[in-house]
Amino acid sequence: MARLVAHNIADLRLAAKARLPRGLFDYVDRGTEEELSLHSNRKAFDSIQFLPRPLVDVSTREQSTDLLNSKLAMPLVIAPTGMAGMLWHQGEIAIARAAKAAGVPFTLSTYSITPIEEVGLVGGDLWFQLYLWPSMDMSLELVKRAQKAGYKALVVTVDSVVNGNREHNRRNGFSVPMRLTPRNIWDGALHPSWTLGVMGRYMLTSGIPEFANFPKDVRSDLRGRTGGNAPATLPKNESQNWSDIRRLRQLWQGPLIVKGILHPLDAINAIDCGADGIVVSNHGGRALDGALAPLQALPAIVAAVSGRARILLDGAVIRGSDVVKAIALGADAVMVGRAPLWGVAAGGEAGVALALATYRNEIDRVMAYLGCRSIAEIHRDLLYHEGPHATAVFKRSNI
Ligand code: FNR
Repeated sequence: MARLVAHNIADLRLAAKARLPRGLFDYVDRGTEEELSLHSNRKAFDSIQFLPRPLVDVSTREQSTDLLNSKLAMPLVIAPTGMAGMLWHQGEIAIARAAKAAGVPFTLSTYSITPIEEVGLVGGDLWFQLYLWPSMDMSLELVKRAQKAGYKALVVTVDSVVNGNREHNRRNGFSVPMRLTPRNIWDGALHPSWTLGVMGRYMLTSGIPEFANFPKDVRSDLRGRTGGNAPATLPKNESQNWSDIRRLRQLWQGPLIVKGILHPLDAINAIDCGADGIVVSNHGGRALDGALAPLQALPAIVAAVSGRARILLDGAVIRGSDVVKAIALGADAVMVGRAPLWGVAAGGEAGVALALATYRNEIDRVMAYLGCRSIAEIHRDLLYHEGPHATAVFKRSNI
């Protein structure tokens, strides 16, 4: 394979685009309906400007930080993303290895292709993401597996009670379960390195990939072929509610994180139910279109939480400067979803390593400009922000 050259995350996205069939690339890349949330996630970062503080001795800079029971080499966690294993042969293992080498946690999705236990063997700091199944017993089956396999934190995603309206998937003929249509056979033929290197390798080794972590009763492969009584469509739990979080709290011994919070009152609900952390997220613009950008939701949530839980944020974090902006507004760390997927699609473990090194270098440079020697020194007065959250010093002096 040619050497992967990428100067930033956007380059990795383009490299992924060249390698993946269109349907699969769009599945990762795009949002829902008008893609309002997808775009507003990005705009929220772009609308914030820095107020650098020069003439601070920044010759020693440290971006490691503690988060719940984890020690992070930088304030970043790899978000759970389903089907990473479809972008690269055993993609979840590749991402987990790169995360371990870079010293950041990797969150394995319920929807991964590689089983919890196999990814567990990679070691490092592993978190497990759970979607609540129609029955608590099914959810607990996964929770127990994750606990046994040594995962440190449980991330419960609550913002996807129904499936996102992804029109581009329908337009591209991309679906889960997958269907073989003339269109996607042609799409595969146009992208032979993916077809042979990913799909071909699965077919020669383990066969058609399956959602290896689905509870036994609902497991099916990606063509929707099931063993036993499993339904062909993916079950969702439309009756999920806060009592489920309380129940998980009783059963999970490690840190419990609720992902998909945008309302300050829900941040409080999560804490009241025993959560140790929350992820302020609109699912990367892949669920409710028009949902508020997490960065805009953040200040009110930080105020409501008032130090009682750790706060992560995700959605359109594609630069080290975005990470610093989120921390300045009160997040403890960010999650990144698409960037590691673009990295793994472009070059497997090396591609993810490149994505993580890019964030690290960019965070370091921004910290130097801002006069920050540690994550603790990143604070809100380093941002100029118009509107109700305007930088305090500008408000006071009325400039
Ligand atoms: C996701 N996301 C997601 N979240 C989750 O809790 N469980 C999951 O299985 C998935 N699956 C998934 C697949 C793909 C292809 C993407 C792009 C995203 C959402 C993810 O965890 C995260 O919230 C967003 O990706 C963050 O936005 P960015 O970083 O992708 O802009």
